[in-house]
Amino acid sequence: MHLHKYEKIWLIFGIMALIIFLSVVGVSAFHQGHTPSGGHKKIDPEKVSETAPFDQPGVHEKEDGTYEVVMVGKAFGYDPGKIQVPAGKEIMFTVTSSDVVHSFSIVGTNVNMMVVPGEINHKKHTFQEPGTYLVICNEYCGSGHHFMSTEIEVVEQ
Ligand code: CUA
Repeated sequence: MHLHKYEKIWLIFGIMALIIFLSVVGVSAFHQGHTPSGGHKKIDPEKVSETAPFDQPGVHEKEDGTYEVVMVGKAFGYDPGKIQVPAGKEIMFTVTSSDVVHSFSIVGTNVNMMVVPGEINHKKHTFQEPGTYLVICNEYCGSGHHFMSTEIEVVEQ
């Protein structure tokens, strides 16, 4: 079979582009830990404050030394607001919404979840550096969307 020179060049270009694309996706997923949020359990959005674990929002230390942060997104903020967590400990963020779709995005980290009414989403993160981390809502949720933010204080153990 004879392939024209330009055909060969384009074929090589296409295959290389595919290899580069799959490498970028692979490194980002397996090396840098960019995975979708887990969970996707259902919850009645009308009864968030009565349903575990959202009946006790906040920071909870677990028996194995890891932490869970339980948070509700609502127009236009997060409940609880400012929280404090230790550096160097694995933290499971568990979120839901009691009204419309929001997001929970911690600036400078891989944590960037949608906060959906009726769904419980999880994402694990370990803060290596102490400091103040900004949390913002990336989903347009109404007139106060651009005010919807909070901060996480990460403190030295
Ligand atoms: Cu909540 Cu935008």
